[in-house]
Amino acid sequence: MKVIKKVISISKIANNIRLKKNTIGFIPTMGALHEGHLFLIQKAREENDIVIVSIFVNPKQFTNAHDLEKYPHNIEKDRLLIESYVDYLFVPSEQEMYPSDFHTSITVGDHAHDLEGEFRSGHFEGMATVVHKFLTICVPTRAYFGLKDYQQFMVVSQMVEDLNINVKIIGVPTVREESGLAMSSRNVQLSDVDRKIAARVYKALLDTKNKIISGERNSHVVEKYCMDLLLQIPNSKIEYVAVRTLPLKRIPIIQSDIVLLVALSIGHVRLIDNIIVRNN
Ligand code: PAJ
Repeated sequence: MKVIKKVISISKIANNIRLKKNTIGFIPTMGALHEGHLFLIQKAREENDIVIVSIFVNPKQFTNAHDLEKYPHNIEKDRLLIESYVDYLFVPSEQEMYPSDFHTSITVGDHAHDLEGEFRSGHFEGMATVVHKFLTICVPTRAYFGLKDYQQFMVVSQMVEDLNINVKIIGVPTVREESGLAMSSRNVQLSDVDRKIAARVYKALLDTKNKIISGERNSHVVEKYCMDLLLQIPNSKIEYVAVRTLPLKRIPIIQSDIVLLVALSIGHVRLIDNIIVRNN
């Protein structure tokens, strides 16, 4: 695995790969890598000739300075974890991505102002801007995103379609710890007790999924049912519980496949998770 720090270098490498008619699988990350990230890399490895991973803690998508400051970093550990599976690791500096004369930002549509967009205003603009830059720099054939960040996956898919970016966006299912807790770089910030408690989030999603499967079709009732389960988790503060269609539309009555999305803090750690419920 070659480690590349400059935009111009990875850009030349990527263009040469494409000229040779080889495919590129790309996985953007913010580091502190775990098995969720490894699963995306594994998918990219299976489907492409060359795999490029980026690690960049993108300041533009953080809506809270303290959150950015405490975001875990361990580039050496990350490098060792992925070196057998990845061809190029791109680790630009902040100056490299956002030189002092950087002025442009991607504006995202209505569905990005709901849910995460409502609670983290400006987050998706920052995320979309950096992802757009990476897609232009690394010209991947396919780019891999986790469905754990379901709304992020939708915002990126919409951007790629709207702006005619020539890449296939692939959504990859959520990897969970044995307890059911969705893997996340932020999990290391949970105390041992809170980590155990956090497993109850997925349990609540599963119980609510069963409620829908057993016949409950009213979105509001479903959301309230899930909310009541989450409210029993000690030390937690719930931000939202939402039933949406897969393109993230609100619906009063469940008549199609839906995704149930939740966001909450346990202690000082913000967690998001979701579950897809098929209507058949
Ligand atoms: P990060 O949180 O590092 O996640 C990188 C990718 O890994 C995202 O697509 C995310 O959805 C996926 N991922 C994280 N946890 C996962 C899990 N448990 N199972 C499956 N996939 C998982 O998301 C970002 O970084 C940033 O917003 C980024 C896209 C890199 C732009 O800065």
